[in-house]
Amino acid sequence: YGVMHEDIKEILFSAPEIANRIQELGKEITRDYQGRQPLLIGILKGAVPFIADLMRVIDLPVSYDLMAVSSYGASTKSSGTVRILKDLDAALEGRDAIIVEDIVDTGLTLKYLLENLRSRQVNSLKVCTLLDKPSRRKVAIQPDYNGFEIPDKFVVGYGLDYAENYRNLPYIGVLKEAVYQK
Ligand code: PRP
Ligand code: MN
Ligand code: MG
Repeated sequence: YGVMHEDIKEILFSAPEIANRIQELGKEITRDYQGRQPLLIGILKGAVPFIADLMRVIDLPVSYDLMAVSSYGASTKSSGTVRILKDLDAALEGRDAIIVEDIVDTGLTLKYLLENLRSRQVNSLKVCTLLDKPSRRKVAIQPDYNGFEIPDKFVVGYGLDYAENYRNLPYIGVLKEAVYQK
């Protein structure tokens, strides 16, 4: 435990660094949503560790729901075609919703989600992401809350995967090239 995984080249953010930053995001959200009861919407599967930690450092009556969308294949990447695989349990009407993501990369997933959720008579809709990789953006979308801006490196851990692996690493690290080049 605590030893770096052999497939990881470099640790970008350690578990305590992640926890400290999430604490700050929680304080910001607590301040911005005083008197309201925000609904956190976690996007499966990458956002699960983040939403779990984030909801516990927001000092408000928070509720949460989870949504799953299909990840666009390589061929449809430019079109940004996304499908809903698991929708929200409840209506969004009148709610103050916050989409919770692990990473905003091209922005295509988020663009689809924002358009889809905005059409549901939501009172307000914001985005909170742990990581932002703006150099890869294909659509002009900016998160309202962001944990860390990162360079264009292949990152895994704390929910982020490569072929479903590494999601359980407690830190965020850069994957060794050899792992995805073989
Ligand atoms: C990843 C990540 C974001 C999305 C970001 O999810 O968790 O949801 O891609 O990419 P984009 O900005 O280019 O759209 P993925 O589709 O890999 O599913 P997962 O969360 O289950 O890993
Ligand atoms: Mn995801
Ligand atoms: Mg993924």
